Order: sequence, then C-alpha cells, then structure tokens
Amino acid sequence: MKIRQVNVSRTACEINAAVEEAVNAIVRGYDRVARPLGIGVRSSNYDDVNFSFEGGAGDRLRKAHYDKSLRLLWKAEQHASQTGFRDCSADELLLMQLADGALHKAEKTELKRVRSDEYKTLLNKSYTPKQKQAIVNILSTIAHGEAYAWMVSADLLGHVKSTGGRSAMTMQVLEEAKHFVVLRELLQAFDCEIPRMNIWEYITLENVLRQSGLEKFFGMNVLVEGLALSIFGTMASFPGLEVLRMFHLDESRHTALPHNYFHDFPMSTWEQYNPLAATQRLLLLLPAIPFLLRLEGDFAVLGIDLFDFAGSVLRKVLHLSERVGFRLPLPEGLILRQLNAVFNLYCSLTRKNHRFKDFMAAEATVGEAELAVERTVFQLLEGTHERPGSGRAKRAVKPRARGRSNGVSAGESADVASPIAARAELH
Ligand SMILES: [Fe+2]
Ligand SMILES: [Fe+2]
Repeated sequence: MKIRQVNVSRTACEINAAVEEAVNAIVRGYDRVARPLGIGVRSSNYDDVNFSFEGGAGDRLRKAHYDKSLRLLWKAEQHASQTGFRDCSADELLLMQLADGALHKAEKTELKRVRSDEYKTLLNKSYTPKQKQAIVNILSTIAHGEAYAWMVSADLLGHVKSTGGRSAMTMQVLEEAKHFVVLRELLQAFDCEIPRMNIWEYITLENVLRQSGLEKFFGMNVLVEGLALSIFGTMASFPGLEVLRMFHLDESRHTALPHNYFHDFPMSTWEQYNPLAATQRLLLLLPAIPFLLRLEGDFAVLGIDLFDFAGSVLRKVLHLSERVGFRLPLPEGLILRQLNAVFNLYCSLTRKNHRFKDFMAAEATVGEAELAVERTVFQLLEGTHERPGSGRAKRAVKPRARGRSNGVSAGESADVASPIAARAELH
C-alpha cells in the first residue's frame, strides 16, 4: 500500500505543538501542586507518562490473577448447560458440538429443554423437598453475597494501584458478575422459595460496602469470600451442584488477592495495627456468628453439623486475616478458643449428650481437588490446627461422617454414590 502525504502548513503544526507543550507545562505543574490538595485537573490515577496506572506495571499481580483468571475462565453454557446462558465462543461451541455430535438448530433447542427437564429430575431424585429448600436457603445467602461482591469489587477497582492490580480487580468484577447471574439461575431451577437476605448478612454486607478504601479487602476478600469459599467447597460434592467447583476455584483466587496485592504495596504498620481499624474488623466478623446459627437447621437437614462448618470457616478466615496483615484486637488463637467455648456452651444447652469438642479443628471442605486448591492458594495448613499432608486433610476427603458430635450416627454405611444419603440429620 502506497501512502501519499497530505500537504499542510509546517508552521501551523509547529505552533500547535508549541501551544500544547506550553499548556501541558502549566496544567501538569498546577497538578503537581494542587492534586495533593484534591483540586488538581486530574482526578484519575492513570499515569499516562509511564503508560501505566499509578503504582507501576505490577506484572506479577497481573500474571497471578488476570492471566490465570482468563486461563481458567469457565462458561455457564458449558458447565451448566441446563441454564439459559449463551456465553461460549464459536471455538468452544464447536468443541461442544463435536462432543454432542452434529446437531441442527431444532435439535439443539430440544436438547436444551431436555437438559433443563433432566436437571430438575436429577434434583427431585437426589433430594427431598426439605433438602432442596435447605440447599436453596444456604446457597441463596451466597448468591446475595455475590451481588455485593460485584459492587464491592467494582468499587475497589478505583482504589487499587498498578496496571497489574487493576487488571486483577477487573477479572474479579467480571467473575462476581458471572457468579451472581449463574447462581441466580441455578437456584431458580430448584423450584423453591428463594429467601430474602438473612438480616445478619445484610448488616455485614452493607458494612463492608461502607468500609473505606482497601479496608474493603478485609470485609469482602477475606471474611465474606472466605465464607463463600467454604460453602462452595462443602456443597460442590452434592449431586447437581458440581458447577460450584468452578466457583470454588474463582473464589480461591479472590481470597488470595489481598495477600498478593499487599506483597507489592504493603500496608503500613499503623494500617495493620490501628486499634480502631482492628476493632472494626472484629465488629464486622461478629455478625457472622448469628448468621451461621440461623442456618443451623438447614445444615442439619443436609447432614452437616453447623459448628463443624463454622469452626472450619472461622479458623481459615482468621488465619488468612493474620497472614494478609489485617490484625484483630485479640490474637487469632485466643479468639478461636473463645468462640469454641461459646459454641460448646450453645451445644450443651441445646443438644442432648453433647460432649466438649474442638470445632475449630474441623474441616468442612470436601474433595481432594478442593482441599488442594485451598492448601496451595492460602497455605492455610501452616496454621496451628493443620500441617501439609496431615491425617485430617486426607481423612476429610472420605465420604463425610458429619453429625457425630452429639453421638448421633452419621449413617456411614449409606451408599457413597449418594452423598446426601451419607449425611445424617442431626435433629
Ligand atoms: Fe463470587
Ligand atoms: Fe469472589
């Protein structure tokens, strides 16, 4: 291709360039002085001079989160084909068609209908109406939380530094959006009433949204997502909920993000230990206790002892908080011991033949892959309760024998192929 230059006035071009240079010097000079006072021309944190966002390129963060998220990006059309999503690329569709055989349009529509009906049949065959409602009650708390995770991550996008940090956060916004819309449709297939937000969850999530700046990382990525991660790790083994393994992978990256981010941009000692901030974190954490208690009956219907689950979650969340640098007013071990004492007191008052138990040593996550994800991403087994390759981690992958803390048989001899049958009702 031949490019023919247009004749223009060289002098006019030089004058335009000189004017731009002069205005640039004035505006940038003004910004240097006025921006720290909040009155500069620039309000964004984009650093055009270095062709990056303030904080630098942040390639390590970009690789650990943005690149990895794209590599692991999953599509609802493929993993939950009973839903109405059409999010596969042409190449992905081609691969699926190869797997399905050559189908014309009418056949595909029919297949979609059959899959949707088949899915509902699978749910009805696998669960009693009470169990279906319990699953919806538990997962809807996470679905509501996903809506807040979407809002909070979009908000955090304006606070994180570096190009890598922003790209990591952008992937989280995208994934939270996907989690909310996919989980919403997944739960609607249960044909059960989808409850409003538990009031304790409402208070917590509204408070997280209200937190300032990167303190939101504690409320959302450590506390709320730590809880969501455990619920996905616990529920993904249930029939028809296998897609939750994909959610579990995504959430593991989200919970690891603050640790990776503060590696590049460390919190100051004051930010970590500020007594006011530390107290606020504890206050943010406390409503999680009545929130979980409200779900005790639903967990029991699914053969899961709420306190085993709560102990497992709290141990992981507090350990993660400590590792990231979000200090609490009391040491991690002391808080866990106090909470364990409260749990045991509650159980001794409400359950027959309760014997003291270390609920904080329980493992709620099920499945070798899910446990491995949590081990590698969070290095949680560095904690006081577990070590890599410890017997508990291995034991936890066996069919669960939950519900035994009160001397109630967990029905271990039940059919392993039907996980719900292996869970005993506590009440
Ligand atoms: Fe999520
Ligand atoms: Fe998340």
